[in-house]
Amino acid sequence: MIVTTDALFKIAYGKYALGAYNINNVEQTMGLFRGCIESQAPFIIQLSKGARKYSDKRMIEAVIRAAEEIFPEAIFAVHLDHGDEETCYDCIDSGFYSSVMIDASHHSFEENVAITKRVVERAHAKGISVEAELGMLGGVEEDIAVDEGNACLTNPDEAIEFIKQSGCDSLAAAIGTSHGAYKFKGQQSLHFEVIEQIREKIAALGRPPTPIVMHGSSSVPKDEVLRINAAGGTLDPTACGVNEDEYLPAAKLGVTKINIDTDGRLVWTRVHREFFRDNPGQFDFRPPGKTFMDEYAKFIAHKNQKLGSAGQLEAVRAALAK
Ligand code: G3H
Ligand code: 13P
Ligand code: ZN
Repeated sequence: MIVTTDALFKIAYGKYALGAYNINNVEQTMGLFRGCIESQAPFIIQLSKGARKYSDKRMIEAVIRAAEEIFPEAIFAVHLDHGDEETCYDCIDSGFYSSVMIDASHHSFEENVAITKRVVERAHAKGISVEAELGMLGGVEEDIAVDEGNACLTNPDEAIEFIKQSGCDSLAAAIGTSHGAYKFKGQQSLHFEVIEQIREKIAALGRPPTPIVMHGSSSVPKDEVLRINAAGGTLDPTACGVNEDEYLPAAKLGVTKINIDTDGRLVWTRVHREFFRDNPGQFDFRPPGKTFMDEYAKFIAHKNQKLGSAGQLEAVRAALAK
């Protein structure tokens, strides 16, 4: 069942985080739904602009509708990840999306507010909520590359001002993470002091709290990187990500949506590299595809345990029925 992102946020806020998983194809979709049912977790599917272009937006949207029928037990929201203004309007007008992200964080504060406000107006008129971004995450976001030196943490006072002026429903804040497989050099921890300050200032607004969104949350497991390289990959072995045991403490401080994409790509790469290394004469893509769906489902169930969303499905169903 597709529900609003807002409803899921209200239920989860301060208790656990919802996994927001990027998908691009049928195999990921099947693995995602199976993993979430196995772990009894609500979740957010997110489509990037690249995912909507990869085959055709109608194709991936139809795959999600089919999954909704195949897994009637599932409770999830559908979200546009890192949208520009035009793509946000396309998704809002389609009537299919529960929420959109307008990513104008590379503009000035004022420009970011102005763009976000326009999207909020259009989205709210249709009952769709809006995630905005303030502060620059390191790494690559579609066409925009931000190097480590230029990445900066979100200023908590600016965050509050931004929420008030833009009217956004959730805020992607830069709290120490970056996109991709190479997140940390040296110290490896989230900036809990920034999360805490944003949470306190949000609480002081005296209205329903604005959830914080954490992008760049993949953990880039060392053994996954080593297995990929043992099967012919050439990933930098210093690749490293967020400590999964920090997801839940962050969730308790209001980080209610945790975005994970890279780790799923690593699962895909490991499964396929190992399959073709061990079966060099094979050319049927279904055997590795089946293994991938199983492994992706396991990976999703594991992430949901770490996020605290595992085991919450029936409580969410009951809360939505009220
Ligand atoms: O933050 C970006 C996501 O990982 C989506 O990546 O734009 O390559 O689909 P993509
Ligand atoms: P990762 O690259 O850490 O998986 O982050 C994904 C993301 O933030 C999607 O918006
Ligand atoms: Zn992101």
